[in-house]
Amino acid sequence: LAFASQSASAQSFPTQPITIVVPFSAGGPTDTVTRLVAQAMGQDLGQQVVVENVGGAGGTLGAARVAHAEPNGYTLLLHHIGMATTATLYRELPYNALEDFAHVGLVTEVPMVMVGRRDLEADTMAEVIAYVREKGEDVMYANAGIGAASHLCGLLFMNALETQMTTVPYQGTGPALTDLMGGQVDLMCDQTTNTTNQIRDGSIKAFGVTVPERLESLPDVPTASESGLEGFEVTIWHGVYAPKGTPEDVVNRLSQSLKIALKDPTVVERFADLGTAPSPEADATPAALRAKVQSEIDLWRPIIEAAGVYAN
Ligand code: MLT
Repeated sequence: LAFASQSASAQSFPTQPITIVVPFSAGGPTDTVTRLVAQAMGQDLGQQVVVENVGGAGGTLGAARVAHAEPNGYTLLLHHIGMATTATLYRELPYNALEDFAHVGLVTEVPMVMVGRRDLEADTMAEVIAYVREKGEDVMYANAGIGAASHLCGLLFMNALETQMTTVPYQGTGPALTDLMGGQVDLMCDQTTNTTNQIRDGSIKAFGVTVPERLESLPDVPTASESGLEGFEVTIWHGVYAPKGTPEDVVNRLSQSLKIALKDPTVVERFADLGTAPSPEADATPAALRAKVQSEIDLWRPIIEAAGVYAN
């Protein structure tokens, strides 16, 4: 009987609009990726897929909202690497990234880039390193709270330099970027999906990308490794989640829709222009995302514990 009713749910699903919660502000990198994917999934599912921004506490408020939502496939979460790092960064979290979600699939992996206000007194990574070492806590480093990708990248940067900056937290790097362009803050490490256009038009400076090879979309920006930060690498992966208890056939229907969305020419083109690419089809699956969350919890736990930084 349970099997019969589950099949019926997948056959009719969805019969109403779906909401994808973005756990950061509108206009930022998670929002940009989500809106592109939501549009394409909506076309496939024949229902509107609405994006709702629930920012705060480094993405953990939005994730908590979805963990406790009705498990019917109509409330989803699109979140990044923070799903794994917060498992260590927060001693207390109102959800468990492995146990309290139905994993739908991986979406994309995005490089990061260290950027600064356009009139910063440094033009290269070597000069930024010298600048930060000299000014220390006088340097205002913007991030999206503890658990954000921008937080993680800043943490690695400060560890590498053995220097502390003053961090200025926002509910997302969308508003942080506005302040960086306005000169209210000095530095930020953010995803290329949020910074590529602003680097190209000169409204911010770029010092280095956090991947081993230069990007086709930003060919003049060196890698962090080639510009003095040997091995400074971090890539931000994103996934789609439903609340635990969502019927398996509904999760599979969502995963199928995600696969279709990731082949959508608009998604592929916009992703490429912003320095990223859709995850391969084999990774847009529940098993691949679950394995990724587990392996990334294991990867980051000792690094965060060694840094000794906790949100609570
Ligand atoms: C981050 O730093 O984690 C992201 O930039 C958050 C966002 O999407 O704004």
